[in-house]
Amino acid sequence: MKIFLDTANLEELRKGADWGIVDGVTTNPTLIAKEGKPFAEQIRRISEIVKGDISAEVVETQADRMVQEGRELARIHPNVVVKCPLTREGVKATSALSKEGVRVNVTLCFTPAQALLAAKAGAYIISPFVGRLDDIAYTGMDLVRQIVAIYNNYGFKTQVLAASIRSPVHVVEAALAGAHIATMPLKVLEMLFNHPLTDKGLDQFLKDYQKVFHEAPVEG
Ligand code: G3P
Repeated sequence: MKIFLDTANLEELRKGADWGIVDGVTTNPTLIAKEGKPFAEQIRRISEIVKGDISAEVVETQADRMVQEGRELARIHPNVVVKCPLTREGVKATSALSKEGVRVNVTLCFTPAQALLAAKAGAYIISPFVGRLDDIAYTGMDLVRQIVAIYNNYGFKTQVLAASIRSPVHVVEAALAGAHIATMPLKVLEMLFNHPLTDKGLDQFLKDYQKVFHEAPVEG
């Protein structure tokens, strides 16, 4: 499963990319607005930090204008994937952009029926929002499982990106569900490393080594 960071913050991206395990980035208008920098410039700077797909979302809501905006976003960098919302106009724009070879991430997906429409429109990625469904007492990961099953039934090439990830459990469940990608805030990625027995075991190894060799381990 690919690991993406769900942020437009350059500091967070540098920290995550430094571990060598981040495969891409997702942004949305809220995350871009939070940085307060010119959109295209921010996406360009992100592409210098993470060498993978970067999702950049249109803010137009009418299909023809979304297509125009999508073409402009795709011209920012070859790694840009254009994000379109799962509305009637968004699906129409996805169909048009996909036919032109522009890769589209269809976002704000909350039902398997919506995901079916996105795949039929030629979407490169579909983004079911797990955490936002959990917020209203649904089991958001069921949506990921259903979409993976439907896409496998018909051989759709659309990648399933588990979005609105809130915890390490979401990441593990997304992998078990067969999601192609999980996108998460830096703080969730950081939690994936944690286990007390790993820390305790390393402490003991180092103590045992120093007891015998009375010297600090060779620093890399
Ligand atoms: O970027 C899309 C999505 O992952 C945002 O999720 O619910 O954390 O705002 P949320």
